[in-house]
Amino acid sequence: MDQNNKQTWSFTGTNGDFKLPQSDRNSYLYFPLVNEGGMMSSVSPKLHGQATSGHNTFLTPPLSVEDLHNSRDSRNFWVYIEGKGAWSAAGNSAKQNAEFYTDNADDAMLEAGFLWHKVTRSSADLGITAEITSFVPVGNDKVELMRVTLTNTSGKELTLTPTAAVPLFARSADDLRDHRHVTSLLNRIYTSAHGVEVQPALSFDERGHRINHTSYGVFGAEGNGNEPLGFFPVQEDFIGEGGSLDWPEAVVLNRAPEAGKGGEMHREGYEALGGIRFRTITLQPGASNSYVIVLAMDSQRIDVSTLMNKYGTTAGFELLLADNKALWADKVNTVEFHTGDPSADQWMKWVTLQPVLRRLYGNSFLPYHDYGRGGRGWRDLWQDCLALLIMEPAEVRSLLLNNYAGVRFDGSNATIIGQQPGEFIADRNNIPRVWMDHGAWPFLTTKLYLDQSGDLEFLLQEQCYFRDNFMSRCRERDASWDEAAGPYLRTSAGDVYKGTILEHILLQNLIPFFNVGEHNNILLEGADWNDGLDMAAERGESVTFTSFYASNLLDISRLLRTVKELKGYETLELAEEMLHLFDSLGTSVDYNSVSAKQEHLNRFYASAPNKVSGIRVALSMDKVADDLEHKAEWIFEHLRRNEWVQSEQGDGWFNGYYNNDGEQVEGEFTEGVRMTLTGQVFPLLGHAAAPEQIPHIIAAVERNLLDDRIGYRLNTDFGGIQQNLGRAFGFAFGHKENGAMFSHMTIMYGNALYKRGYVNEGRKVLESLYNLSVDFETSRMYPGIPEYINEQGRGMYTYLTGSASWLLLTMVTEVFGVKGQLGDLLLEPKLVKEQFDAEGKASIKTIFAERELEVVYTSTGSSVYGEYQIHSVTLNGIKVTLQRVSEGVLISRDLLSALPAGKSHLVEVELA
Ligand code: G1P
Repeated sequence: MDQNNKQTWSFTGTNGDFKLPQSDRNSYLYFPLVNEGGMMSSVSPKLHGQATSGHNTFLTPPLSVEDLHNSRDSRNFWVYIEGKGAWSAAGNSAKQNAEFYTDNADDAMLEAGFLWHKVTRSSADLGITAEITSFVPVGNDKVELMRVTLTNTSGKELTLTPTAAVPLFARSADDLRDHRHVTSLLNRIYTSAHGVEVQPALSFDERGHRINHTSYGVFGAEGNGNEPLGFFPVQEDFIGEGGSLDWPEAVVLNRAPEAGKGGEMHREGYEALGGIRFRTITLQPGASNSYVIVLAMDSQRIDVSTLMNKYGTTAGFELLLADNKALWADKVNTVEFHTGDPSADQWMKWVTLQPVLRRLYGNSFLPYHDYGRGGRGWRDLWQDCLALLIMEPAEVRSLLLNNYAGVRFDGSNATIIGQQPGEFIADRNNIPRVWMDHGAWPFLTTKLYLDQSGDLEFLLQEQCYFRDNFMSRCRERDASWDEAAGPYLRTSAGDVYKGTILEHILLQNLIPFFNVGEHNNILLEGADWNDGLDMAAERGESVTFTSFYASNLLDISRLLRTVKELKGYETLELAEEMLHLFDSLGTSVDYNSVSAKQEHLNRFYASAPNKVSGIRVALSMDKVADDLEHKAEWIFEHLRRNEWVQSEQGDGWFNGYYNNDGEQVEGEFTEGVRMTLTGQVFPLLGHAAAPEQIPHIIAAVERNLLDDRIGYRLNTDFGGIQQNLGRAFGFAFGHKENGAMFSHMTIMYGNALYKRGYVNEGRKVLESLYNLSVDFETSRMYPGIPEYINEQGRGMYTYLTGSASWLLLTMVTEVFGVKGQLGDLLLEPKLVKEQFDAEGKASIKTIFAERELEVVYTSTGSSVYGEYQIHSVTLNGIKVTLQRVSEGVLISRDLLSALPAGKSHLVEVELA
């Protein structure tokens, strides 16, 4: 509780650790525990949650967020107290639940940090305290550890019999409903000196049952390494007839366990349980005893003695916990902020962690999940690279290169992404669907990469193209496609065709230019960024992504001119079929004519029917750049003239969409105002919104979309289900993609405002997100940002959201203004007064040019944004000769690259 008697978490030090009193008085809370080895766990204040390494290998029963409070399938640790009865150290017993709202309720305090979780639960009535610490150790083992320490807090001796109980699901999430029982018949349950292991005989799949090798287990030891007394390997025996996991007969009646330490198969054909009985102990007042519980899985039978030697003692536990803390601290401290608000700085550490979590969990393996089956989406692949460029930059080049292998020659892309980098899989479900925004993101990410690294050669690197049985952006099927030939575009001679990255980018951005609907904006196709706009595939248009593509065309054009200037290249080699797309180099297309564009595109499709000749043509760099620029300018002009909604209030905004009836979606209608934030973000983020339009858009957003309770909404209330637009409007208003505060769009809006020089307005947007997220009594979430804030103000889908990448990126490159410009370091701070500390300092630690830099801004005059300028810069105390550009100050990459690697370098910037 804070001073105002509000329940909230609070930071306990300076490294992001926090505590939350009465942690079990919240629902939907969960904490991630994970490692690079593929163990993905989540844990709630009552130790609920799951442990899995993928969709088909759940150690504990798979769950969704409602199960956190409604299901009894959770990690548990029981204590039978002589004379007093059963008590759950995790808080999961029928009795504790019944007493939850009474004075007899336990007290529970949560503490957590990177990446560990501890709950201290005390029963004043019983005179016992249990401290349960959980984490997933560093390394490649798929292991989760729990240490339970029981302390006698009563004035008298306590005699206790402890029993760990963790349900072992040991199979695929698909078996949760389909074949739930018959798959339990596959279970082969083994007990050994320390616990229970299940290796199902087959993995159930009606297309062909296969021998299963994966093995799952729960093992335990007393803190000193002592073996348990015996086991309860079968759930139904443990709970007893009429019992349940939260009131199991074996504990409540303190039944003796089955011994069975032999390691031979012990039981088969039942739902299994990691039920571990420890010896009865007597604790004197103040005395404690500890236990270590190991949840583990392996690709074969588990080597239990090796496992327990490594993980099975409290001494080992302490060391591993320290390693784990050090590893995660290292990861999140790659970027560190220091501003006038230390709490906000610590909060940013949790945001910094989020992109790493998304890389490890994808979107599926925490209790809130967008899709349940694992896998990654194309859009997310590119968005996640934004944060990696800041946090793990060394990896990004090859990631980007691999990702481009998913592009089809029609500018669309594979949507099923394999396990290995660069592995894309043909859609066997045959769902012909193109998300029209997909082609726009890769260039945005690549541009950031080029700016951060200066690696222009990357554009000329070659990569293959993806091919499957879809062509012409899924409008046609390719009857000649042979899956056996692999998912690669080939030449007429049958060779795998490779083109430069630049060629891929050009296809992705040029083809949409011609793919327009009746209002001459790019077709919405299957949906755009908003996955929920999925019911306007015939006539729908995404005006907002039209502006994104146009901005890309202009930026690519500028990039080509730079490449020519810096590298001296006069020509560009491209597949000959692409000549069609540069119409101004041959027969110009009338851009005002929708049918002319469509016909032109059809001619291109006909010339490259999922195959290319393999012949390249050399085009003049200048002419290609001119062509792109001309196309971009045409779109800007078209949007400003035709898609501007002039409000009666004096302000205005961009219409973002046309629906499947060809109607303009946004505007002031008699039924109310229809406006989307998405519609504004992309014109602002790129070049489509003219400078004089920006203040009008801001005013319209503030008026129509800002709600004091939940922040900047994604859209106004359209008041109906919009079958001509998408499922999003079937969602209740104020939830998810229908009018919630959707962090991703809000942050991109903030980013765009900073970019366009509206710093105070941008800051207001980011602040609102921060304030909503940290207002625990309403948001009910741990530090970090949610995917969205719902109508009630609750933070939803915590941890796994692409918006964290955007927030990190915005803080580093916009707010602190530490960013690359074709490899050089540009300093362009956009800090506002409150962000400087009492000494007028604000600083950031980040990686640039493979060097760790600490950039410290000191304001010696005004700290009001707009009033200060960079006055001087020193590097490790030595004055740097300033190269001023319109945006700020440039420090050459050569200067930074010459610094020794492996240590931190100080860049002191005086603002005056
Ligand atoms: C999620 C998806 C993202 C999509 C968005 C809107 O956002 O991951 O690709 O564009 O919903 O439909 P996120 O969870 O990344 O915030």
